Amino acid sequence: MQVLARSLLAALAAWQSRDPSPTTGQLHNPAPGNQSAVNLTVITSGGNHSSPLLYGIMFEVGPTVPRKDFSLWPGDGGLHGQLLQNNGFQGADPGLTAYKPIGPAEIMQDYLYPVSEAITSSLQVSVTTGATGWAGFANTGYKGIPVVNTTYWCQFWMLGDYTGDLILRLVGASNGTIYASHNVPVGSTAQKFTQYTTEFHASASPDGHNEWQLLFNASKVAGGTLNFGLPQLFPPTYKSRPNGLRDDIAQVIADLKPSFLRFPGGNNLEGLQVDSRWQWNLTIGPVVDRPGRQSDWFYPNTDALGLDEYLWWCEDMKMVPVLAVWDGKSYGGIQSGQELEPYIEDILHELEYLLGPPNTTYGSLRARNGRVQPWPIEYIEIGNEDDYTGGCPTYPQRFMQIYEAIHQSYPNLTLITSASDPQCLPAEPPPGIMYDFHYYRSPDQLVAQFHEWDHQSRSRPAMIGEYGCRNTSSPDGFYWPFMRCSCSEAVHMIGLERNSDVVKMASYAPLLQNFPYTQWSPTLIGFDSNPGSLTLSTSYWVQKMFSTSQGETILPVNSTASFGPLYWVASKTHRTYMVKMANYGHELRSVRVTIPHTTAGHLEMLSGPPDGVNLPHNSTIRPVRQKVTGVRGSYVVSMPAWGVAVLLVH
Ligand code: AHR
Repeated sequence: MQVLARSLLAALAAWQSRDPSPTTGQLHNPAPGNQSAVNLTVITSGGNHSSPLLYGIMFEVGPTVPRKDFSLWPGDGGLHGQLLQNNGFQGADPGLTAYKPIGPAEIMQDYLYPVSEAITSSLQVSVTTGATGWAGFANTGYKGIPVVNTTYWCQFWMLGDYTGDLILRLVGASNGTIYASHNVPVGSTAQKFTQYTTEFHASASPDGHNEWQLLFNASKVAGGTLNFGLPQLFPPTYKSRPNGLRDDIAQVIADLKPSFLRFPGGNNLEGLQVDSRWQWNLTIGPVVDRPGRQSDWFYPNTDALGLDEYLWWCEDMKMVPVLAVWDGKSYGGIQSGQELEPYIEDILHELEYLLGPPNTTYGSLRARNGRVQPWPIEYIEIGNEDDYTGGCPTYPQRFMQIYEAIHQSYPNLTLITSASDPQCLPAEPPPGIMYDFHYYRSPDQLVAQFHEWDHQSRSRPAMIGEYGCRNTSSPDGFYWPFMRCSCSEAVHMIGLERNSDVVKMASYAPLLQNFPYTQWSPTLIGFDSNPGSLTLSTSYWVQKMFSTSQGETILPVNSTASFGPLYWVASKTHRTYMVKMANYGHELRSVRVTIPHTTAGHLEMLSGPPDGVNLPHNSTIRPVRQKVTGVRGSYVVSMPAWGVAVLLVH
């Protein structure tokens, strides 16, 4: 967090002392002294088909390099709508994280009274002998609870003899202001846990420094104990899904109009050990039956965002699912040959759960879990990053074992390798597969890779499952996206789009970070518990500009300059033409774009100083859109230094 604060402060200082050179693109207004005008003439016929799936997203509940201090919390405490932390005491030794006693009470984690087989403990609240007034406990969420003017859904389990009212409250943790107070009549017994579900309204808190409290009449329990389990608190979720996504974060993801979702990892699929791999069957059904796990990112995952939730998310945002299955590689060991067979059996069970009719064993389980129709799965990735962390020598064989098992039962599925290095792949890969490539690079390196995909064999379709600009020279590799970095991503994406006949899919990674917990940056979107904290990085805007203006055909362009520092790609869908441009240089450039037979449209421009960043609670760089009118099909665009533009005309 200190590193984040330092880097944000440095970025803020740089932003405040920025060069006041023009930051928005202008039409018909080349800057004085501009030496390098470029003419681009779009050829409106011919060209290559562009993959409709090109711009997607990758999500995992935490990103990679196994390091003790690594954490990100993009799922629990992030995209998943549930707001209370450590609600099921999952993961390795969570202790009383996020809990505190209130009034004449003490609290402890109690393994003697598990809530379920999966949730193996509960919170015991013991009340002082002779106590009066209200006692109970608080949960402080993920460094606070966002409290807004809305109706909250709340559920918890309770054990112990108690008849009367409980009070649920949302309270300002430092100022004591009560934003919600709600009585819940209960008749709990000591024989078994009783589940309570309720809803209540809250007024908005000005900050995120809030806690959820559960209180009971201390005199009724004095000298005794009550146990509570798996408390859950949700504001309204995206598309009102039960156990759904946090609405504001989901909405800005939906605005990207991503074509696919790659999940559940990333490293998070792999497991620190074989036993702590992501196991699909432990992430389905009622949340109270999900044990959770210690993630590859050294923090607990509740798995409340589980397999079906990912797929509802895909359905709600019209994304094609790209599901990764565990292929034998964990950080702590690799299962191959005969040892891998039971895990392959498990993959087939997972696929029956997803694709089988409701009268099959696992298809019927899916139906019982609320989804009668099979899920529309077409793409399966076999593992994650098998060209790293020891996977390479055994991957060719593991890939073929899994490929053959899946292909035999599901010949229509497209299978994707998790390695791109030919040395880690079968000598003769089967036809019809795709290859996943990952790279995180400095801005200059990303730009230097511009032509890489021009040379990709057209018989090896690619998914760029993870990429992004990253400061690899810092020991933490750590910063939040800034304009030059985002411009380099735009250059790189222009290279991908030019080759989108063979680069079928590409997803920036990682997607989200919860600022107070950040150890990996950059990401596209950041947030914390405070109102207005949702921060869309400059890289977010590049992704949005590109993915919301993708043509069906990539068109040839005649130019008076070669690529660099200006880069471009043109495309069309019917009679709408799009030209994407990025100026990876420190001088403004005038560009005359000619697209015969077009008359008007708009220009979207993202620009800022090279080190300009969008800061939490202070985002200033966003695309500016203006209408444009062509003169005999020509448009003059002033491309600011480090600017990224999309010209869309008809
Ligand atoms: O996106 C962050 C991590 O980077 C992913 O988990 C992993 O696949 C890659 O190494």
